[in-house]
Amino acid sequence: MVATAEQSGSKMSALRTPLCEKLGIDYPIFQAGMGYVARYELAAAVSAAGGLGCIGSGYMTPDVLVEEIAKLRAITDRPFGVNILFGRPSQQDNKHDAHIERMAQVAIDAEVPVIVSGLGSPSREIVDKAHAKGIFVMSVIGAARHAAKAAEGGVDGLIASGQEGGGHVGKIGTAVLIPSIVDATDLPLVAAGGFADGRGLVMALAMGAQGIWMGTRFITTDESYAHANYKQKIVDIDITGTTVSRGHSGKTCRLIENDFTHYWDTNPEEILPFPRQLKAVGEPASIAGRENGDMANGSCPAGQTSGLIHQVKPAGQLVQDIVAEAHGIIGNLTTMAAQG
Ligand SMILES: Cc1cc2nc3c(=O)[nH]c(=O)nc-3n(C[C@H](O)[C@H](O)[C@H](O)COP(=O)(O)O)c2cc1C
Repeated sequence: MVATAEQSGSKMSALRTPLCEKLGIDYPIFQAGMGYVARYELAAAVSAAGGLGCIGSGYMTPDVLVEEIAKLRAITDRPFGVNILFGRPSQQDNKHDAHIERMAQVAIDAEVPVIVSGLGSPSREIVDKAHAKGIFVMSVIGAARHAAKAAEGGVDGLIASGQEGGGHVGKIGTAVLIPSIVDATDLPLVAAGGFADGRGLVMALAMGAQGIWMGTRFITTDESYAHANYKQKIVDIDITGTTVSRGHSGKTCRLIENDFTHYWDTNPEEILPFPRQLKAVGEPASIAGRENGDMANGSCPAGQTSGLIHQVKPAGQLVQDIVAEAHGIIGNLTTMAAQG
């Protein structure tokens, strides 16, 4: 159930948007539900710090998701989300559809506060079942034209990720994408792609978004499940260290540039259509990179913010640092405005 502001004991903050009020969170900082990387430890740390943590359930079984939710709830009673990859790997794959139904049912039965759909929106039936339990449903979209469709499907909020972001991306940069979607929908929108600090949070709010959804910055936290080599690589590379490749899944995906991306850049004719490339190549390469730390041959999603990240730190501290920086910027802007 979504907590009210009173129930959450939330703090007053200039950053608190209507969406924060609705979800019962203190700050408009949403942690992306990244497959393999965002497990209960990370989600719990972010939620406990006043943001919205999100378990990335991609690649989990229903039983594992049940356990992850229980473990998160043993750490914090704050609101959190579960990310489910509704479109993965294929709408025509009956086995896959059954798996997604079961994952969604786990989240609904557990009455998680928020369900976030990735790579496609949930069916109307799932949305209705979630709403019957008071669950807030958000959908990740990549273009303004998807906003109306998501609204028709009954979702309560949107997340849009620009081309700078890690993982699957479209062609439009965040600074253009976000205002275009704000103009196209009445649903609350959370901005994603390229956010790593308080400057980005203020920028997102100025564009009309009600929060930021960060992936790459949260990989480089103590609680993320990513291999230490993966975290260190993000710290080491600069803003040019990532590239968009179809090698991971057949769809455009921003990854750390390495031997894996070079291979698929030079052999594009071998890339299978989505989702066959993901099954045959992306999944094993993800395990190589994210779990085993093979930074040469692994498929390691990361965004251009890698060049802005210089340190691995605790997730709760990261949330507090972003809030403090954003408050400072808003204070300065307020002073400028007062001076005319
Ligand atoms: C390692 C990694 C894994 C991701 N896995 C998922 C996923 O399972 N589901 C999803 O909806 N988005 C996933 N994404 C995309 C994020 O949700 C988000 O849109 C993106 O990270 C935002 O850009 P940023 O990396 O610049 O913060 C992933 C991103 C990364 C970096």
